Amino acid sequence: MSKTRIILDCDPGHDDAVAIMMAARHPDIELLGITVVAGNQTLQKTVTNALKVCQHLDINVPVYAGSARPLVKDPIHAEFIHGKSGLDGPAFAPLTRRPEPMHAVSFIIKTLMQSEGDITLVPTGPLTNIALAMRMEPRIINKIRQIVLMGGSAGAGNITPAAEFNIFADADAAKIVFESGLPIVMCGLDVTRQVRCYQEVIDRMAQLGNKASTLFKEMMEFYNQTQLTAFHLVGGPLHDPVTIAYLIDNSVLELNYCNVNIDNRSEVSYGRTNCDLINFWKKEPNVHVATGVNVERFWDIVESCLALY
Ligand code: BDR
Ligand code: CA
Repeated sequence: MSKTRIILDCDPGHDDAVAIMMAARHPDIELLGITVVAGNQTLQKTVTNALKVCQHLDINVPVYAGSARPLVKDPIHAEFIHGKSGLDGPAFAPLTRRPEPMHAVSFIIKTLMQSEGDITLVPTGPLTNIALAMRMEPRIINKIRQIVLMGGSAGAGNITPAAEFNIFADADAAKIVFESGLPIVMCGLDVTRQVRCYQEVIDRMAQLGNKASTLFKEMMEFYNQTQLTAFHLVGGPLHDPVTIAYLIDNSVLELNYCNVNIDNRSEVSYGRTNCDLINFWKKEPNVHVATGVNVERFWDIVESCLALY
């Protein structure tokens, strides 16, 4: 079987860091580059965090810095979940690795234009970099195989009652991406809030006893504290890795193909992904919305990825 070639566009972030760990070593995935965007923290911090994870685990994948701000609105960050650094908890050695000189958006465009149309984009942060790439070079749209993203919710949000963080952080960018006509798999809160990192999950991963599992434990112990304080959740939802788990094993998710409309206009519902799961609007479907997840299988996949270190 040929490998799934991907570009991971992220804003690490504890759960983004786990997605990097999973994508970097799995034999079915070829991670072409890590492009970084502002989101969970400022761009400078999210880039630093991506580099720290790569350096710590000897992940030799190029890291590119992208957009420091959303397209139109003011930036927001999720310090209340990911801490001051954006990846609080573990201690890392001083950073010697540097980001590549090329801008993330230029890397995305160049890599797609030189490809045979076989690359999957995996955004796990705000969609600013992807939307910018689509506007700068619209021909990339015919070159993208599919987009498998973490973001949105058919139900409630997590940053407002209506909106999920990644979409709310840049709903104008999300609108561009969701209306691109590309095949999109949306791994939203409906499924990611089901994969909760309970203490027994942390203990299970820690038993692997390698560098990746220790990093996982240190990150998740911090993350679980903030999830408890912010959302009263015991066991933080491991949002972003759902995208990588799906690429490794499609059967981990149940998908519902329907019309999704991004609200980037209203005040109270800004950033809402309106998922017409009942086909009320009778509009063309544009997104495969994940509505179910095999939780046991998900943790098996995470474990098998961490075991590769
Ligand atoms: C998303 O927001 C971020 O805080 C996480 O990294 C994830 O991508 C969940 O709403
Ligand atoms: Ca993220």
